[in-house]
Amino acid sequence: MYSSDFGKDFLWGVATAAAQIEGAANSYGKGPSIWDTFSKRTGKIKKGHNPSEACDFYHRYPEDIALVKTLGFNVFRFSIAWSRIFPIGHGTLNKEGVAFYHNVIDECLKQGVTPMITLYHWDLPEALSKEGGWTAFGINSHFNEFATFCAKEYGDKVKHWIVINEPFGFTSLGYMLGVHAPGQNGVSNFFDAALHTAIAQADGGKILRAEVKNAVIGTAFSCSEIIPYTQSSQDIIAAKRVDALMNRFFLEPTLGMGFPTADWDVLEKFAISHSTWRHQERMRFDFDFIGVQNYFPLVIKYNAFIPVVQAWEVKAKNRRAPHTAMGWEVNADSFYRIIKQFAAYPQVKNIMVTENGAYFQDHLVDGKINDQARIEYFEAYLAAMLKAKNEGINITGYLAWTLMDNFEWAEGYQARFGLVYNDFKTQQRTIKQSGYWWQDFLSK
Ligand code: BGC
Repeated sequence: MYSSDFGKDFLWGVATAAAQIEGAANSYGKGPSIWDTFSKRTGKIKKGHNPSEACDFYHRYPEDIALVKTLGFNVFRFSIAWSRIFPIGHGTLNKEGVAFYHNVIDECLKQGVTPMITLYHWDLPEALSKEGGWTAFGINSHFNEFATFCAKEYGDKVKHWIVINEPFGFTSLGYMLGVHAPGQNGVSNFFDAALHTAIAQADGGKILRAEVKNAVIGTAFSCSEIIPYTQSSQDIIAAKRVDALMNRFFLEPTLGMGFPTADWDVLEKFAISHSTWRHQERMRFDFDFIGVQNYFPLVIKYNAFIPVVQAWEVKAKNRRAPHTAMGWEVNADSFYRIIKQFAAYPQVKNIMVTENGAYFQDHLVDGKINDQARIEYFEAYLAAMLKAKNEGINITGYLAWTLMDNFEWAEGYQARFGLVYNDFKTQQRTIKQSGYWWQDFLSK
């Protein structure tokens, strides 16, 4: 199997995110983001790590884009740090920040790499968080100001856009479970944040459509096949609830279907108290592609003691299923099935895999990282994607997560997902064997 098996127009890229790679978090006029402040709270991030230097991409972007090219990819996905453009989230602009993304885009174009921008990849300006962040009604007008600015400023040069990265990811981890920034808890926070995020997602799409000529607009959903632990009706129903929350909750409003409330009274109550038919219309946008990001399936068992969802994950290691160093099950067949689940909606025109990848323990031996497990992971996942494509599913691209080891949110710098190893003390990059594997795969 080689890249040519996917057709000549297929997009191959690597995905990254501003807070995970840029560094220069407190300089060049950038305002603090919620990850800068969250990482100062004791015990929130492993080993007390913080994103202030990350991969120092801010200073090293020409070499890093050259690495994208060396590996043979033709797309570089990166995000814009909102607080680098608007230090307090709206109003006053930071010209240095605006210039920085021009430089990154120009460098991509100069090196023959297509830039793909994510508008929001989790690093909300701290100043907006103080006003309630995604739970506050006012967030939508601020987001729209930011989206409009970026579309007008960069839209002549950048045609590929992703509005929001994993709405379920950051609203659940950040506003319900408190393990990601801004560290809030509670179902009500989550539902408030979810509604505003679903609106922002569609608003962003509409703004890009209006401002950017010939734009290719998508948004990126986390997705996981949800498998009931047993065939008992309790496990099956619990699995359905998790599926509604993790896979359907943000996708279906985008497709004009409203929130998936039919099978679950909790969601129905939320929808009645939070959203109206007006919201339903506003949350809809006809995206050019639906981004899917898959890292694991989930096996779900009914559990009456878990509030709201009454479901519990049976972890891969307890089932003796193969898993990554993150504990996430490696299961390429489930990747194939979740692609099919997302593609089955008649409103979905095509799918782009906007993230997929794995953290395995990497060991630098004699200047080399022999990450065979990661190579096998990509081989299996790409074969599964090819099977789906050959069955007629319109898949237009695949972006590997990620170019280089970086700041992996609450895991700090320990969890290495890169195709390129990064020594965080010296910022020296070393291409892993998986990177060379990609180079070979993409050359044919
Ligand atoms: C996120 C990335 C993250 C990756 C691995 C995705 O959910 O979009 O930012 O690094 O998962 O955890």
